[in-house]
Amino acid sequence: MKKGPASAPPEMVILAELSAADPAFVSGSALALKLGISRVAVWQYMEKLREQGFTFEAVRARGYRLLTRPEWLSATLIQSYRRDRVGAFPLEVLAEIDSTNDEAARQLAAGKEAPFAIIAQRQTKGRGRFGRHWHSESNGNLYASFAFRPCLEPARMQMFTLWMGASICDLIASFCRTSPGLKWPNDLLFDGRKAGGMLTEARIDADQIRDLVFGLGLNVMAPPGGWPAELADRAVSLSEHTRQPVDLNKLTAALIGRVRQSYERFVDGSYKATFADLWNCYDVLRNRPVAVLTHNQRVAGIALGIDDEGSFLVRTPNGRTERFRAGEVTLEKPPR
Ligand code: BTN
Repeated sequence: MKKGPASAPPEMVILAELSAADPAFVSGSALALKLGISRVAVWQYMEKLREQGFTFEAVRARGYRLLTRPEWLSATLIQSYRRDRVGAFPLEVLAEIDSTNDEAARQLAAGKEAPFAIIAQRQTKGRGRFGRHWHSESNGNLYASFAFRPCLEPARMQMFTLWMGASICDLIASFCRTSPGLKWPNDLLFDGRKAGGMLTEARIDADQIRDLVFGLGLNVMAPPGGWPAELADRAVSLSEHTRQPVDLNKLTAALIGRVRQSYERFVDGSYKATFADLWNCYDVLRNRPVAVLTHNQRVAGIALGIDDEGSFLVRTPNGRTERFRAGEVTLEKPPR
């Protein structure tokens, strides 16, 4: 173990040392030396970790050994899993909030340095597109918002959501070894059922996006009592689909790394090299009969994919190609 004070928060350093040594013990004095603090202070940090749901075995003259990690979301655990360390990404895990998007917007408005992430175990006013309610019970799902200050033209926001959606699909596909589908503009699906959704919101000032909040709701666990009746045949979770337990903290850590990397690739423009291939790989609508509902019309036809600005393209029965910047898409039954 290297000597000297470390820059990461002490709880994370302790966790990293115990995880690296697992199942062996690490002595209190080795931890104290590593952190440049007293053994009593080490013990106090161990208590903080216990409060967060970690359990340890402490044996005189041998030290500490990690027994279990919390199953619920833990900021310390998420940060300790962020092996990529592409850059610091401050993170807050809240037991309850109205909406993580609203909280991120409030913190940006109050001047907090970006980027940062707000994650909640439960939302009391979780929102989706068109102000719809987003089921946000505390049952092991992910409700996360990522806050940035990008200085981008507002017209690029549509493409931002599509790019983030494709990147997140790709991450889930490699993390869970099963491929979700993307339904324009912001739905993540498994077998036609919704597993997640994205909501990008911005504060625009002098024709530039100043504050950008990217919200992600992801169904990770099946609700213990089942889905509410209105969602029963429309929603699905990753663990239901894969029939495997999903480690929520590891998945969240991987998502943070991917969101950060994808954001940077969007801002520097390098995303353009891979976006179309990635989108086409996960797009579940392309070449299928669809109907698009906008505020004043319903247009049916065959989905052709998206254009360079992220608009949805539909070929209508009269052979015209219609372009949609916004709207609700439904899959239609193929004609007989
Ligand atoms: C949709 O499919 O309409 C988008 C759903 C987005 C839900 C997420 S959950 C985290 C963040 N906070 C919110 O209030 N909404 C987004």
